[in-house]
Amino acid sequence: MGQSVLSLSGTLLARIAARAGTPVYVYSADAIGAQHRALRAALADIPHRIHYSVKANSSLAILDLVRGLGMGGDIVSGGELARALRAGFPASDLVFSGVGKRADELSAAVAAGVGLINLESDGELEALASVARGGTRVNVGIRVNPDVTTETHPYTQTGKSGMKFGVPLDQVVPLARRLGRTPGLELCSLGMHIGSQISDAAPYRCGAEKLEALVETVRGQGVTTLTSVDVGGGLAIDYGRGPALDLALFADAVAPLARATGLMVLMEPGRFLVGNAGVLLTRVLYHKRSGGREIVVADAGMNDLMRPSLYQAYHEITVVNSAPISLHPPPPTSTTSTTRGSAPEGLVDVVGPNCESGDFLALGRPLPAAPPGTLLAVLGAGAYGFGMSSHYNSRPRAAEVLVAGERFGIIRERETTADLMRGETTAPVWETA
Ligand code: LLP
Repeated sequence: MGQSVLSLSGTLLARIAARAGTPVYVYSADAIGAQHRALRAALADIPHRIHYSVKANSSLAILDLVRGLGMGGDIVSGGELARALRAGFPASDLVFSGVGKRADELSAAVAAGVGLINLESDGELEALASVARGGTRVNVGIRVNPDVTTETHPYTQTGKSGMKFGVPLDQVVPLARRLGRTPGLELCSLGMHIGSQISDAAPYRCGAEKLEALVETVRGQGVTTLTSVDVGGGLAIDYGRGPALDLALFADAVAPLARATGLMVLMEPGRFLVGNAGVLLTRVLYHKRSGGREIVVADAGMNDLMRPSLYQAYHEITVVNSAPISLHPPPPTSTTSTTRGSAPEGLVDVVGPNCESGDFLALGRPLPAAPPGTLLAVLGAGAYGFGMSSHYNSRPRAAEVLVAGERFGIIRERETTADLMRGETTAPVWETA
């Protein structure tokens, strides 16, 4: 886990699988705490506030834990607002981001007293102005699209011109002016979120420089209400195949923005805090050989963990025995292949039970003998794992367990088949159009 090597005991994981069944997500509270401390330490010289990006893992117990550590929340929907409030976040500690907030979601945020609403378009300003009319003052930020390039998966880039995210650089000042003329709204922040799993500090520096220039321009137009700049999330972790973002370099990249503007730096990390704190436990069901490939069929698949299918993401997989499992992935082995060509001897494809050829957890991996019944741990599954899971193939979603020290507790029951069909009927009340 970056600074400290944290692990989960294999015996404990086996007990959890026996108690909660598989597939099951297991999270280490200690690992989340360690990541938070590391980030705080790196940013110690910068006035900052960390808002956990709820979408990375929005389970109530994780939100409660994060809140207890002193973080605020970064939310992107009415559902995330409801979850964050249920987990006890004061609304004033929430930042509402997102490209497509509906009027009812903006309304709920204003009514709750959300601390900062980040606008992403002209139209959204109008929508917010109409829901805020006549009420108390709403603190507003502008999410800027700083037009910076990040070397990350195309689906997780967000800071480049032409993308749906943020307000293009040349439209920020006109929007700030309109905001200034809108009763009930106050421009408090300029921000960015340039993508996810970013391992290089350079794009943060580049984006921060652009924000710094914008702060100066906007202040030059007479805006005196800015209190913060938001540098977003996106900090890369090491899944076992690539470097994590160097926190010291990240801090160096954003510190000049804080110094030059005198503003509080807000951050919205998700993956960094929870990604390597979680594993997905799955049991081997069957083995088969086909076309020279050894195929291991597990009981978890793309419906549980979509990242390998969606992004060809690498997740380390290890056999659970009595040995502790390090949450810090081991260094790369050279023998891994990631495509479906002929696989070298000893490598296996770990696939899920769904009726899709793209349903796999790993392709061409070295794996020790794992006969049917073997328990496997898929590492790096704490972020964008359960949250992106689905009912595809009508599979109930997995259980979730939190480990704190020597103890563990179920934080989400496994869904039942009744849960799958909740709200459905074969006898609708027909209405005439
Ligand atoms: N702030 C905003 C406005 C975001 O949209 C996101 C993530 C974050 C913060 C947190 O980013 P993080 O620190 O976790 O990188 N499903 C993908 C990741 C998509 C990220 C979406 N936005 C994955 O599994 O890799």
